[in-house]
Amino acid sequence: MEGLRKHFGLSILLSLLIIACWMLPSSSASPTTRRFRFNVGWKKVSRLCHTKPLLTVNGEYPGPTIAVHEGDNVEIKVTNRVEENTTIHWHGIRQFRTGWADGPAYITQCPIRGGQSYTYKFTVIDQRGTLLWHAHYSWQRASVYGAFIIYPRMPNPFSSPPIRAEIRIIFGEWWNSDVDSVENEMIKYGAGPISSDAYTINGLPGPLYPCSNKDTFIQTVEFGKTYMLRIINAALNDELFFAIANHTLTVVEIDAVYTKPFTTTAIMIAPGQTTTVLMTANQVPDRSGMFAMAARPYLTSVFPFNNSTSLGFLRYKKLGSGKIKSLNSLQVHNLPLMEDTAFATKFSDNLRSLASAQFPCNVPKSIDKQVIVTISLNLQECPKNETCKGFNGKRFHASMNNQSFVRPPTSILECHYKNLTTGIFSSDFPEKPPNSFDYTGVDPLTENMNTEFGTKLLVVPYGTSLEIVLQDTSFLNVENHPIHVHGHNFFIVGRGFGNFDQAKHPVEYNLVDPPGRNTVAVPSGGWAAIRIKADNPGVWFVHCHLEEHTTWGLAMGFIVQNGRGPSQTVIPPPQDLPLC
Ligand code: C2O
Repeated sequence: MEGLRKHFGLSILLSLLIIACWMLPSSSASPTTRRFRFNVGWKKVSRLCHTKPLLTVNGEYPGPTIAVHEGDNVEIKVTNRVEENTTIHWHGIRQFRTGWADGPAYITQCPIRGGQSYTYKFTVIDQRGTLLWHAHYSWQRASVYGAFIIYPRMPNPFSSPPIRAEIRIIFGEWWNSDVDSVENEMIKYGAGPISSDAYTINGLPGPLYPCSNKDTFIQTVEFGKTYMLRIINAALNDELFFAIANHTLTVVEIDAVYTKPFTTTAIMIAPGQTTTVLMTANQVPDRSGMFAMAARPYLTSVFPFNNSTSLGFLRYKKLGSGKIKSLNSLQVHNLPLMEDTAFATKFSDNLRSLASAQFPCNVPKSIDKQVIVTISLNLQECPKNETCKGFNGKRFHASMNNQSFVRPPTSILECHYKNLTTGIFSSDFPEKPPNSFDYTGVDPLTENMNTEFGTKLLVVPYGTSLEIVLQDTSFLNVENHPIHVHGHNFFIVGRGFGNFDQAKHPVEYNLVDPPGRNTVAVPSGGWAAIRIKADNPGVWFVHCHLEEHTTWGLAMGFIVQNGRGPSQTVIPPPQDLPLC
C-alpha cells in the first residue's frame, strides 16, 4: 500500500514536471529545427481524361504542406530525381541573411542538377500565417507547389468562435499537354503561351470540365462550426476570384501578415498571393446538402486566356444526400464576373494592416530613395532566320523601365558575394523610365515598343527606406500585373488608375495601416506605390508572378548591401550549394 502511494506521488510529480516543461514559453526553449525531405520526380497523373507524367514533390499533387512555427529553423533537403534542373522557392519567407535558400534559379543559386541534392536552411522570423512554396525553374511551378504554413507562437489576434478545422485551398492550372513544350513553343516563336485547360482547386478541376466529375474537391463541414480557410493562388498566369455560394468570408491575414478583419462575399487573389479567411458553416443547404465554391479568372488582358471555372463543394455533414441533381442548378451568385474591376478594386481597398500594439505596422514614414518603374509588354522585330508568331510576325517580350531581364548562366548572389561582377550583371538599373510620356494613355501600338535586354540591378545600402512606384503602361494592352518582391515584405501605400502623379499622389498615401504583402496586384492601367525597408542583405528578384511575363523578361533584381557587423551581413554560402 505504502509503496503504491509513493509510486503514485512520484508519477504525479513527474507529470507535473512534464506539464511545466511543456508550458514553458518557447523563447526560453532552444529553437526547434524542423526537417523535411522533398524528392522531385515524375508521377503519372490523369485529369480531364488525359494522363501524363507530372513533375511532383514526393509524388503528391499539389505537393506536401510544410507546417512550422514562427521562430523555427527549417531544413528541407531537396533531391532532384529527374534529368531536368530544378530549384524550390519558399515564396514570401523573408530569408533574413540566408538568400542562399531563397531558390530562384540563377538569382540566388545555380539549379539543382539531376541526381543532386541541396538542403535549404533558413529561420522563419516574425511571420505568421499562410504562404506557399513552388519550383522556381522554368515553368515547373505548374505542378510543383504546396502550402507553407507558419503557426504563431502567440494566440491569433482576431477573435473568432473556436476554429473547428483548417482547410487548405490551393488554386492551380492544368494543361493536358506537357507544360515544358508549352513554354518551349512560346520561347521559340515569341508568341503567347496556349492557355491552360482547367483551373484546379487542390489539384482538382471539378465537374464543369469534360471527364472530370470524379476529380472534384469536396470538403465536409459541420453546421454551425467555423473554419479557417488558407487560400493560395499557385496558378501560373491568372488572377482569380473565389467565392462560396451563400457564405461570407472574413479576411484575417494576407501573405502571412495580419489584417484588420473584414467580411466579404468573394476574394480576388493574384498568383503568389495568399489569403486566410474565416468561414462559418451557418447556411441551410437544399436536399443535396451541398454548396458550391468556385474560382474563375479576374480578366484584364485582351490576350487569349482560359475563361473556365473550377468548382468544388462544401458538404454539410448529416444534412442532405450529398448528390447534385443538375450542374445547371448550381449558382455561385456571389462570384464576381470576370471583368469586375470594381469588385477587385474595392476588395484591395479593404485590405489594411492590423496595426495593433502587438503587431505594429512599421511602414517607413519617410524614404531615402524613390524609384519609378514602368511595366510593359513589348513587341520586337523578328530576328533574321527565325519564325515569330507574336503580333504582326514579331516577338513578344516584357520589361521594367524598358529593361527586359535576362537571367545569367550563373548565380548572381554568388557573384555578388565573391565580388565577381565582371560581365554577369551590372549595377545600373534605371531609377526612372528612360523617357516620360502618357504611360497609360498612348495608343498601344504606336509608341516605340522596343526594349533592351540585360541583367541590370538596383543597388541600395543596408537599411534604405525604398519606395518603388510600379506604373503599368498601355503598350500592347493594359493589364493587372502581380509584382512579387523576394526577401522583403512591403507596404502598399498607394494605388490608382492612370498615371502616377508625384505632385498629387504621395500626399494621399496611407502611412497608418497600409497592407503588408510580398505580391502586389498593380491595377490594370494604373500604378501602385510600395515601401520597403531594405534591411535584408543579399540579391533579390522582383518580377511579375504571371509566369508568361517572367519568361518575357518582366523582372528586375535589387541588391541590398551588407550593413555593419555580422547581424547585417549575408551568411557564408552553404557547403552543398549547387554549382552551375
Ligand atoms: Cu513565387 Cu520569384 O516567385
